[in-house]
Amino acid sequence: MSEVARCWGVIPAAGSGSRMGLSEPKQHRLLGGKTLLEHSLDALLRLPGMLGVVIALAADDPRASDFRDRDERVHVVAGGVQRADSVLAALHFLQKIAYEDDWVLVHDAARPCLSPADGERLVSEVLAHGGGGLLAEPLVDTLKRVGADGLVQATVDRRGLWRAQTPQMFPLLPLQQALLAALAAGVAVTDEASAMEWGGHPVRVVSGSPRNFKVTVPGDLELAAFYLGIADGGRE
Ligand code: CTP
Ligand code: MG
Repeated sequence: MSEVARCWGVIPAAGSGSRMGLSEPKQHRLLGGKTLLEHSLDALLRLPGMLGVVIALAADDPRASDFRDRDERVHVVAGGVQRADSVLAALHFLQKIAYEDDWVLVHDAARPCLSPADGERLVSEVLAHGGGGLLAEPLVDTLKRVGADGLVQATVDRRGLWRAQTPQMFPLLPLQQALLAALAAGVAVTDEASAMEWGGHPVRVVSGSPRNFKVTVPGDLELAAFYLGIADGGRE
């Protein structure tokens, strides 16, 4: 077995969680004694080779100091207006402490149920093939394209369609360059893979699982509590 690859985590956690409609951003919602962000952070920290994790929090987030004192492997930076800006702020910080070809795993704060098995499968598959990759799931439902009038226009062939998840794993410098170039070109960068694809880099999907869903609307908290094995359904 060769030595463990050098990996860093990045957690964009500077969103406002508008669709969740809570009084504070969803990443700070408690579920079983830990916040969603802490669950996501712990899931990254326990992956093999993880040297440190950079969390991007909103510039005025009062929780920043909680994380600064928590663990020497945890760093906090100020995020930006869009998710990609938050990721770039974290990569800018990593540039000072990491090597250009170190691996970066970008993981949403809002995906607290990432299992060790899924995270480890992503790392081992990407290392085996090179390039970069992301956890994803093949679509299982029949897809409909619907017009503004609510009528179905067509049934879309789902073959070859996958739902992108995180972590998304790429080498530091190419990821940073691809994000900067894609944003400068006005490309909609909704995840790291889209910037890498736009830059012509190979991006591999690695089979994930439904438990790694993104907590987005209020009903999702109960599902997250279920996957995390929290008995009372997370009513805190
Ligand atoms: N995020 C971020 N910086 C932003 C916007 C989003 O770091 N400017 C982060 C969120 O905190 C979240 C992840 O990106 O961990 C995925 O985004 P999403 O689920 O859309 O979260 P929010 O943008 O907070 O939610 P909403 O879109 O409902 O407002
Ligand atoms: Mg959002």
